[in-house]
Amino acid sequence: MDLGISGRVAIVTGASAGIGYAVAEQLLVEGTSVVVVARDRDRLEASAASLRERTGGEVFAQPMDVSSPTAATEIMEGVMGRFGRLDILVNNAGRAHAGGLLDATEEDWEEMAALKLTSMRRMCRAAIPVLAKQRWGRIVNMSSIGGIYPNPKLLVSHVLSAAINNLTKGLALEVAPLGILVNAIGIGAVATDNWAANMIPSVRRRRPELKDAPDEEVLAVVGRESTPIGRPGLPEEIAAIAVFLASARNGFVTGDTIEASGGADRFM
Ligand SMILES: NC(=O)c1ccc[n+]([C@@H]2O[C@H](COP(=O)([O-])OP(=O)(O)OC[C@H]3O[C@@H](n4cnc5c(N)ncnc54)[C@H](OP(=O)(O)O)[C@@H]3O)[C@@H](O)[C@H]2O)c1
Repeated sequence: MDLGISGRVAIVTGASAGIGYAVAEQLLVEGTSVVVVARDRDRLEASAASLRERTGGEVFAQPMDVSSPTAATEIMEGVMGRFGRLDILVNNAGRAHAGGLLDATEEDWEEMAALKLTSMRRMCRAAIPVLAKQRWGRIVNMSSIGGIYPNPKLLVSHVLSAAINNLTKGLALEVAPLGILVNAIGIGAVATDNWAANMIPSVRRRRPELKDAPDEEVLAVVGRESTPIGRPGLPEEIAAIAVFLASARNGFVTGDTIEASGGADRFM
């Protein structure tokens, strides 16, 4: 199916690994030029090179911490300087914070809010005037299934995910008359580095029988137990939804949070 986005320009934040990398790859396959953003410059350059090699597409690497107050304007300046246009924004950068209220410090809340919510709001604020001028734009925000079904094992992440879902819905209504569609994806357990770094240590602490199991086995057990389809998701399965939502084929879905969790309403 031709998604009708060849020649368009996209920003994908958090695109050096995991779900963001898969989104960038699928956009490139569709003929969209992609600006990839992440903090670690070396890993980002390596990912951009591998994306070019795998797709033959046009990739521009922009190293940036999206939590920084000036990141959104700097990223937009980079995109406009390089391509002179923007059509698609995928707000994907982020990570999980394991634990409940008693496990989170003031700093955890502030850091996670800046990373997940404030950065997303600022990116939308910076991109929308450009999208509005051409009366066509697509925004996809990566959220979590926990924004719909909160879970005390990931409370900070899930409070912020609920806020992302509301930002998505409210903003979609605000910009619908401007030709801009805004959606979120409520992601369930997907096998990425984020799991290894931020969730698997917490599973091991609570599950002594998994204390010495390799990461893949821990994730397989969690996927089997908490996901009706019996396994964790793959980054490319989330990317396929994101790219459809970001495409010209999507003309009528806006303000939605698509549940992509293998039927699960919990993580672990
Ligand atoms: N995997 C899951 O099960 C799951 C579930 C629900 C929601 N999600 C959400 O889906 C998104 C992608 O997750 P993932 O699992 O693919 O993560 P991942 O594999 O750990 O990749 C995260 C990406 O974001 C970048 N990043 C992190 N902090 C950043 C910052 N401050 N500024 C710019 N880039 C930053 C990372 O690169 P650098 O470290 O170099 O910056 C990397 O490119 C996240 O928002 C996550 O919360 C994931």
